Amino acid sequence: MADMLVNLLKLPPLTPLLQDLRRAGVVVRRAAPYEIGRVRRFVERHFTAAWADEISVGYANKPVSVFLAIREGDVLGFAAYECTRRGFFGPTGVEERERGKGIGKALLLAALHGLAEMGYAYGIIGGVGPAEFYASAVGATLIPDSTPGIYADPLSDTDPRDGEAPPR
Ligand SMILES: CC(C)(COP(=O)(O)OP(=O)(O)OC[C@H]1O[C@@H](n2cnc3c(N)ncnc32)[C@H](O)[C@@H]1OP(=O)(O)O)[C@@H](O)C(=O)NCCC(=O)NCCS
Repeated sequence: MADMLVNLLKLPPLTPLLQDLRRAGVVVRRAAPYEIGRVRRFVERHFTAAWADEISVGYANKPVSVFLAIREGDVLGFAAYECTRRGFFGPTGVEERERGKGIGKALLLAALHGLAEMGYAYGIIGGVGPAEFYASAVGATLIPDSTPGIYADPLSDTDPRDGEAPPR
């Protein structure tokens, strides 16, 4: 999984994408701390517990560095930045049946504009993923020799001690 670099000084505008989605009933906005549990359940159901953990620290940033896409109060997707490392975008995900409608791109741009507002000139997309999506949406380019990156030496998916009684 390589990293990708994005020039934040040349980001496409976000407002037209937000307006198009809003006309289609989808709102892209910053997440709020009082929604942590609800969003966590969405990320665990559709993606992984590790991603839910990763974005949880974004709620401690001010402003919160997690964006949500919602329709009629239901979460459809999320994107986070400035979570595992400074200047990094990710993770992100859109519920499978909602893909291909421009939601992922709007979430990506909202988060990258958030990075730009923090003062970064370049952002890093950590451990991609769908490189073509990032290349076509924001002109991201692969960073040479960026594997393994920040997600090296992961824990296994299963904990052999799961289900054991806690020590007394
Ligand atoms: C990647 C992801 C967030 C894209 O969300 P989405 O809502 O389907 O994306 P959009 O509809 O905004 O697509 C924007 C453009 O990217 C293209 N695109 C979307 N997913 C793509 C993919 N996996 N590969 C190549 N191109 C892709 C679309 O065709 C569209 O192109 P267009 O503007 O020319 O029409 C979504 O597929 C997803 O959740 N994937 C699983 C999780 C994941 O891989 N996350 C990234 C980890 S690094």
